[in-house]
Amino acid sequence: MAHDICELLGIEFPVLAFSHCRDVVAAVTRAGGLGVLGAMTYTPEALEVELAWIEEQVGSLPWGVDVLIPASLGGVGELSSEDLTSFLAKVELASLFPEGHRRFLSDLLDRYEVPPLADPAIAGGGDIGRFSLPTTLADISLEHPITLIASALGPPPPTLVEDAHKKGVLVVALAGTAEHAVRQKEAGVDVIVAQGTEAGGHTGEISTMVLVPEVVEAVAPLPVLAAGGIASGRQMAAAMALGAQGVWTGSVWLTTEEAETEPVVKQKMLRASSKDTVRSKSRTGKPARQLKSAWTEAWEGPDSPGALPMPLQPLLIDEALARIDHAAAAGHQGATELANYFVGQVVGSMKAIKPARQVLLDMVSEYIDTVTEMAARLEN
Ligand SMILES: Cc1cc2nc3c(=O)[nH]c(=O)nc-3n(C[C@H](O)[C@H](O)[C@H](O)COP(=O)(O)O)c2cc1C
Repeated sequence: MAHDICELLGIEFPVLAFSHCRDVVAAVTRAGGLGVLGAMTYTPEALEVELAWIEEQVGSLPWGVDVLIPASLGGVGELSSEDLTSFLAKVELASLFPEGHRRFLSDLLDRYEVPPLADPAIAGGGDIGRFSLPTTLADISLEHPITLIASALGPPPPTLVEDAHKKGVLVVALAGTAEHAVRQKEAGVDVIVAQGTEAGGHTGEISTMVLVPEVVEAVAPLPVLAAGGIASGRQMAAAMALGAQGVWTGSVWLTTEEAETEPVVKQKMLRASSKDTVRSKSRTGKPARQLKSAWTEAWEGPDSPGALPMPLQPLLIDEALARIDHAAAAGHQGATELANYFVGQVVGSMKAIKPARQVLLDMVSEYIDTVTEMAARLEN
């Protein structure tokens, strides 16, 4: 397609796919879009394995990596992510959590009769890694032939921008307001993702419809990708009409055949309507859109002590979520009620499990039909 972003990124279709699943990333890239691997759920060793695998699958085709680098971590006295590892090494983890929060969580698990993990090592403190190692994960990623590196939750650190540019890697950043987008531009970012509140994961309060043109105008001439609520060709056409050069998608890949989504949660997503998500701090300590479940209901309810700030909330709940996911996977009733995951409002239109390649090609073909139909209407 003759879009500038296709030329910049070396892709056939202006569709980028964020996913934590390497199979989705490779499938989208091989089908003519650009897959971006969310790195934050991996340890450095595991990430290396995933990146080597994708590299082998896609050859010289373009792909990318996404790391979350929170500009600050309010839960630990505004420490930066880089300082977190040494901070955590010095403290007794449990001492960071107020007694009321520990009791609320343990009562919640008891009420839904969620069994303990057979092997507590499964929880593994993954979230400590998640918030203490983003720059390590970025360094590892830059050793691979990626086309872009994306970051969210604040402007990327100057060293990341410098290192990426030295290697000819484009820097992409997510923004939920025009002000944040301008800050990203000033930090040297090459492509801005304007992500509306509809989106799954960490999200702001402004809708995609309002945000995209604001960001396009604020950061011109930087290219802008629209994100949040885009899962079909018609939504893609709307995003392009708002001035975006392409789309950045996340939720729609969660019900693909390849996706990492827990089967129980995948089924919940297939049944969900667009009303069934909530922007809640209950998983990460920052507002993140996710599927409504007994988990979000409890944390948003009148008896909740409220979520702790990032990174304390994910550290507090890491083992609990592992318990819930394991028990739900084994068919446990209470755990199934609690189980959820990040997803956007577009979940309401995700009604069938399809291969990722099919999702991409359907979206592109509907986009072409929509734009052609609209152009024809002008001629009549
Ligand atoms: C399961 C899930 C996890 C996400 N995790 C991240 C993340 O780690 N980093 C990031 O930049 N964006 C993350 N996002 C947001 C996506 O990058 C993307 O902006 C968003 O999904 C687009 O909106 P949509 O969900 O309506 O397609 C996540 C989204 C989902 C659905």
